[in-house]
Amino acid sequence: MTRTALITGASAGIGTAFAELLAAEGYDVVLVARRAERLNDLAEALVDRYGISALPLPADLAHPAAPAAICGQLAESGIEIDALINNAGLSGSTAFTETPWEKIAAELQIQVNSATELTHRLAPAMRERGWGRIVNLSSIAAFQPPAESLLYTGIKTYVLNMSQALNMELSPHGVHVTALCPGFTRSEFHDVMETREAANRLPGLLWGDADQVARAGWSAVMRGKPVCVPRTVNKFLAASMRPVPLATQYAMSARIKVL
Ligand SMILES: NC(=O)c1ccc[n+]([C@@H]2O[C@H](COP(=O)([O-])OP(=O)(O)OC[C@H]3O[C@@H](n4cnc5c(N)ncnc54)[C@H](OP(=O)(O)O)[C@@H]3O)[C@@H](O)[C@H]2O)c1
Repeated sequence: MTRTALITGASAGIGTAFAELLAAEGYDVVLVARRAERLNDLAEALVDRYGISALPLPADLAHPAAPAAICGQLAESGIEIDALINNAGLSGSTAFTETPWEKIAAELQIQVNSATELTHRLAPAMRERGWGRIVNLSSIAAFQPPAESLLYTGIKTYVLNMSQALNMELSPHGVHVTALCPGFTRSEFHDVMETREAANRLPGLLWGDADQVARAGWSAVMRGKPVCVPRTVNKFLAASMRPVPLATQYAMSARIKVL
C-alpha cells in the first residue's frame, strides 16, 4: 500500500529534505509552499528519482483560507494524507512595537493557525484508519528564555506543547505526533530573517544540516517519540536551560544576542 505525505514549506531547507526523505521511502508526496516553480521542479525530480507521485500545491499559508482550500483540492483529487509535516515557518527579527501588524499576523497564521487547522482537518481520518504520522516543526528556542526574535519563542513553545498533548490523545489510535526541535540549521531561514551576517558568526559546532534534521524527526515520529531534539549539542542546550532560575535566564537572554 502506498502512503501519502503532505509537507508544508517544501520549497526550501528542512521541508525539501523531508520531501526527499519521504519520497525515497516510497511515499507519494504533496508539496505546499508559495514558490510554485520550485515545487514543480522538486516534484519532477522526485518522480524521476523514486518513481512516486508528487503533487505540487502552491499556497500561501499566511492566508486564513489556505488550509481549507488545500484540503478541498486533496478531496477533489481523492488523496488521503497519512503523514503530515507542518514545517513552513519563519521568524521576525525586528522589535514587536516596530513591526507592522501584517507581518506579525502572518507569522502567527502560518505557524500556529494554519498548522493547527491542517492538523485538525487531516488527523481525524488518520485516527479512523488507525495509522498516521504528524511532525510539527518547533525549535530549541522553545526550551530557551524568551529572546528578542519577536513571537518566535512563544510560537515554538505552543507547537511543542500542542504536539505533546495531541500525541497523548492520538497515540493510542495509531497516530503519532512529534514536535521536532532543531537548533541552527543550514537553510534559507536566516536569509529570510535578514540575520545571515550575525548567524555566520556563530561557531560551526552549532550548525546542523536540513537532511539530518528531517531524518531525526522522521525516525522519532516512527518510534512514537513526542519530542525530538536533533544533535547532541542541541540536546545539551535544551536540557541546560531547564534547571536555571528564570531571573538568570532573562539575564542571559539579554546578554547573549545572536540575532
Ligand atoms: N533553520 C533553522 O535554524 C531552524 C531552527 C529551528 C527551527 N526551524 C524551523 O524549521 C522550519 C523550516 O525552516 P527552514 O530552516 O527550512 O527555513 P527556510 O529554508 O526558510 O524554509 C521555509 C519554508 O517555509 C515556507 N513558507 C514561508 N512562508 C510561507 C507561507 N506564507 N506560505 C507557505 N509556505 C511558506 C517557504 O516557502 P515559500 O517561501 O516558497 O513560501 C519555505 O519552503 C520552520 O518552521 C522553522 O521555524 C528552523
